[in-house]
Amino acid sequence: MRATPRGPDGVAYVRLAVPNLAQTIEFLDFHVGLALEEHDDTHAYLRVGLEHHSVELVAAPELEQFRYDAVGYHVANATDLADLRERVTAAGHEVHPLQDRMKSLCQDGFAVTDPNGTTVELVLDMVEYAETPWPDLRPETLVHPFVVTDRYEETLHFYLDVLGFRASDYVEDFTAFLRCEDRYHHSLAVRRADRYALEHLCFIMGSMDGVMRRRARAQYKQVAILGDVVNHSASTSIAFYLYDPKHGPRYELCDGHRVLTPEEHETHRPRRLKRDPRNIDVWRAAADDRTWAH
Ligand SMILES: [Fe+2]
Repeated sequence: MRATPRGPDGVAYVRLAVPNLAQTIEFLDFHVGLALEEHDDTHAYLRVGLEHHSVELVAAPELEQFRYDAVGYHVANATDLADLRERVTAAGHEVHPLQDRMKSLCQDGFAVTDPNGTTVELVLDMVEYAETPWPDLRPETLVHPFVVTDRYEETLHFYLDVLGFRASDYVEDFTAFLRCEDRYHHSLAVRRADRYALEHLCFIMGSMDGVMRRRARAQYKQVAILGDVVNHSASTSIAFYLYDPKHGPRYELCDGHRVLTPEEHETHRPRRLKRDPRNIDVWRAAADDRTWAH
């Protein structure tokens, strides 16, 4: 039994409010490969695999751009959930009930507000489907949200020391990659900034063929590609990012996201990488090559 507390198992879903629900559903279907499930005029569930949903959209016609409302993390078992609830309370955070719709989609869980005001839902035994949606260039799974924040230290303290995430790597004192018990290199990334925002959501496509076909679709429809094909040093993934702020943050579609071995999960010491474009993309030509970020 290790001395450090156990964190959540991995990322389950995010909840985004969007100005035009129907258009965002169409965008996420065509460009990211999310399959539409239960929906009405006020909200929609979209999934990629067996999980009930990876994205919940909430209609918010008053908005001009998307809003990041919540993130859900799976918890492996009831003991871990009880432990998390205890640590959250002991750290002085209020434990809230889950969103009403979520209560019927899992066996147990609670919500807590993180230092940036985002609702974090910790859920046990979420409802799942027996089969994945019919294949259509779909991603395999949602793997991480990436946030920028003006509360970098408080955010790291909350996720590392209270919720029990582990640091996989840092970029100097500027970016932190945090992992859950499912051992994906990061299930949350946090970057220091002068504001708070969900910067991107990453989906694992499962093949380079899938990544490049989705890139071609973005080009075909003239959706902005902000961050073209890059080879990340931290997670060893190859990805591109598409972006339309009406429909969410940048969507990163990747292949080859690192999963630590069970042994590495216990022994890995986070690297402190240099702040250099070659650490965002190892293919860049030199330290001043920022041409990936067009
Ligand atoms: Fe990412």
